[in-house]
Amino acid sequence: MERNITWHQASVSQKDYRNKNGHHSGVIWFTGLSGSGKSSIANQLNHLLHERGIHTYLLDGDNIRHGLNSDLGFSAEDREENIRRIGEVAKLFADSGAIVLTAFISPYQKDRDRIRASLPEEDFLEVYVDCPIDECEARDPKGLYEKARQGHIKGFTGIDSPYEAPIDPEQVLHSFDYDVKSCADQLLVLLEEKGWI
Ligand code: PPS
Repeated sequence: MERNITWHQASVSQKDYRNKNGHHSGVIWFTGLSGSGKSSIANQLNHLLHERGIHTYLLDGDNIRHGLNSDLGFSAEDREENIRRIGEVAKLFADSGAIVLTAFISPYQKDRDRIRASLPEEDFLEVYVDCPIDECEARDPKGLYEKARQGHIKGFTGIDSPYEAPIDPEQVLHSFDYDVKSCADQLLVLLEEKGWI
């Protein structure tokens, strides 16, 4: 298909935005099972960064599915498209000089790798919120595991739909052993070490 579209170079660049903000920009990609704590930790980190005057934006699972991705379900194809679109949006925010935090199950390694590959290496941090499924199921904050066990939800991640744990993430957070604040603090250290803040 002939698309007849041309990329326009903006006169204000990512470098300009970063210089103005006084910090690096990029994508912090949280991944983990439902109930693992990725939204809570991402929210806490977002709060801590915001308090420091850092330009951030949080893209969070259920919220995006209410709007931008309201046409998508939970088949493998729809999850792939969900993550593809979120990756594109995250890149736009990173381009605007923000540190973007994304909190999605993002169960497939290839989808996460695709976003990683589309950004400069130093602009993407994959954070695996590692929590045993038994614990996620015991927490069951939305009652979804119970529904899935009863057969009312088909294709629930970790029950009858796969979750591929990251192979080589920049950070693993053990959210069973550490509370939300402690996990967010570990990420602050990582961001300082990486020179993002
Ligand atoms: S994905 O796999 O990355 O596309 O999923 P995501 O956009 O993060 O959405 C996950 C939230 O949707 C709810 N939900 C389900 N999760 C997993 N599997 C199925 N079948 C499903 N149906 C609904 C659930 O509330 C997830 O929220 P979190 O915050 O992860 O608990």
